[in-house]
Amino acid sequence: MLTNCKIFTAKSAGFCFGVDRAVKIVYNKLNNYDNLVTLGPIIHNNNVVMDLEAKGVRAISDVSQVTEGQPVVIRSHGVGLDVYEELETKNAVVIDATCPFVERIHKLARKYSDEGYVVLIAGDEKHPEVMGIRGHCKGKSYVFSDVSMLLKIAEEIGNEKVAVVSQTTFNLAVWNECALKIGEIFPDAQVNNTICNATAERQREARELAKQSDLMIIVGGRHSSNTLKLKNVCEEYCRCYLIEGAEELRSIDFSGLEFIGISAGASTPAYIIKEVQNTMSEILLNEEEFDFAEALEQSFKKIYTGARVTGYITTVNNSEVTVDIGTKHTGIIPASELTDDPSLKPEDVVKVGDEIEVIVLKISDQDGLVTLSKKKVDAQKGFEEIIKAKEEGTVLTGTVTNVVKGGVLVIANGVKVFVPASQATSRRDDKLEELLKKSVDFKIIDVNEARQRAVGSIRAVTKEARAAAKAEFFEGVEVGAEVEGTVKSVLDYGVFVDLGGVDGLIRKPDLTWGRIKHPSEVVAVGDKIVVTIKDVDKENGKVSLSYKKESENPWAMFEAKYNKDDVVSVKVVSITSFGAFAQIMDGIDGLIHISQIANKRVNNVADILKVGDVVDAQIIEIDAEQKRISLSMRALLPEEEVAEEAAEEAVEATEE
Ligand code: F3S
Repeated sequence: MLTNCKIFTAKSAGFCFGVDRAVKIVYNKLNNYDNLVTLGPIIHNNNVVMDLEAKGVRAISDVSQVTEGQPVVIRSHGVGLDVYEELETKNAVVIDATCPFVERIHKLARKYSDEGYVVLIAGDEKHPEVMGIRGHCKGKSYVFSDVSMLLKIAEEIGNEKVAVVSQTTFNLAVWNECALKIGEIFPDAQVNNTICNATAERQREARELAKQSDLMIIVGGRHSSNTLKLKNVCEEYCRCYLIEGAEELRSIDFSGLEFIGISAGASTPAYIIKEVQNTMSEILLNEEEFDFAEALEQSFKKIYTGARVTGYITTVNNSEVTVDIGTKHTGIIPASELTDDPSLKPEDVVKVGDEIEVIVLKISDQDGLVTLSKKKVDAQKGFEEIIKAKEEGTVLTGTVTNVVKGGVLVIANGVKVFVPASQATSRRDDKLEELLKKSVDFKIIDVNEARQRAVGSIRAVTKEARAAAKAEFFEGVEVGAEVEGTVKSVLDYGVFVDLGGVDGLIRKPDLTWGRIKHPSEVVAVGDKIVVTIKDVDKENGKVSLSYKKESENPWAMFEAKYNKDDVVSVKVVSITSFGAFAQIMDGIDGLIHISQIANKRVNNVADILKVGDVVDAQIIEIDAEQKRISLSMRALLPEEEVAEEAAEEAVEATEE
């Protein structure tokens, strides 16, 4: 009897995100090229493949079939590095529809392989996705599909370090069993469950449905691994049929059933699932005079508090939005459940006709109303992104909204991320308040899924950026080059300049050609200045700079202007026991030796000269090598006086 038969269709039946994306990419591109090919069928579904063929998109089986410059779509399964290389040699236009989740496994495989790990892949070794993953391992890799294979591989590997990933469509229960064993055999193994959530969710839902059903219909391609696995999962609990299309239902015996469940593989288009539902309805109505359509409708009504459902916006007003969620209920999203941003009105967020994903907050069968929330879905999705960002080390961008005790809050993807003070700024004394309302780049360093909390680090990004900038700087830096920098600190002995990731030091003598008491007479913190690279110590990461310009070198100017025997007007700048230093021009001083000050014996320089005196002197010697200039006042005195003085000196010498 089918009178009480109920039909349930799994919510997760049909295209997953990656397949949907890949199919859309092909349909979007087919008008751009007339010889577009896909490397393998884009999905395991003949209807879609044939439709594409009719539109001129061929599926080729091997990269060797690609012709020079041909546009090629890489499907969601992904491919190994060798395939990319071969496509490059053929100058192919690569349209990469590899699912981002598969790409993540490629990255893991490359990383572990590069670090010397043996990579173990839980999956089917003939599956293109697994072959693609292996194609990203430079070192050893093995594939296992159950515990017994794992044990055999373990014997071969011995003590080598091991990393494990899984095919995205691998059976979750088998994975759990294998993961336990891996923990025993390789206690230090890096184990990564990379089974796609879509697959895991589809399998979990199908299993639950199969437990309650007398019969399960799995819709999908017979060559589709995830569809086959769905069937395997379900047939443990009830009779199960895998069909590719609605016409195959005719050969199935539905008599005596109370519950029928429907699920579908990741490559099954929604219209095929719909056809299956309609055909089942027809068959059962004909056979049993049973209102199957009603039963089918009931299956769509399976909503419950906390369920995530998709619907269409039907009306929008200032206080709420109504949504058709495919049931007899009226779905309502109060304005407060649309967005976290109080400045936005409902019409700024959605419009009539939009498809929308919502969470059921409350069901009132009496009024026929269902209260829904969009912002909770946004937060869930945002948190999923946060988890992914942590796993992949992605840099996120967010806005600092609050300074709180011990750090700041940053909003990214609708999620509040706490950034501790120690991770917020590059320097401890930087003020947290200065970050308020600013857009910042950060990384997720910790996630608590149960409490939906995430901790981020802005410093991790700035540190990496500085390290990269530093590496780049030392790669290209050349002594003698002029670079721009910002004065970071001014100290007694010199000035530190931020050259963009690297700090360089200008020692005080390299700041200016003139005389200064303190570097602050030349530059101030924050000044943008152009400096010359004087010396580079790559090993210790040190850079010496000069702010003095060669073109302003006073010695060169002096040499151009003056010669030996020239008479100059000079200003006494310091007095010593052996003479006086006098400034000839800016940055150039000469020495008037005590014996060259007067035409008589001078015992104390200060008796004749004092700082600030301006006197005439003759340049009597220029030592270009030592950059020394000797001056003489005495040389300008009349001959007689000099002779007189010589005579006096002779007398004095005799008397002595
Ligand atoms: Fe990607 Fe998961 Fe589908 S890995 S292709 S979204 S099953």
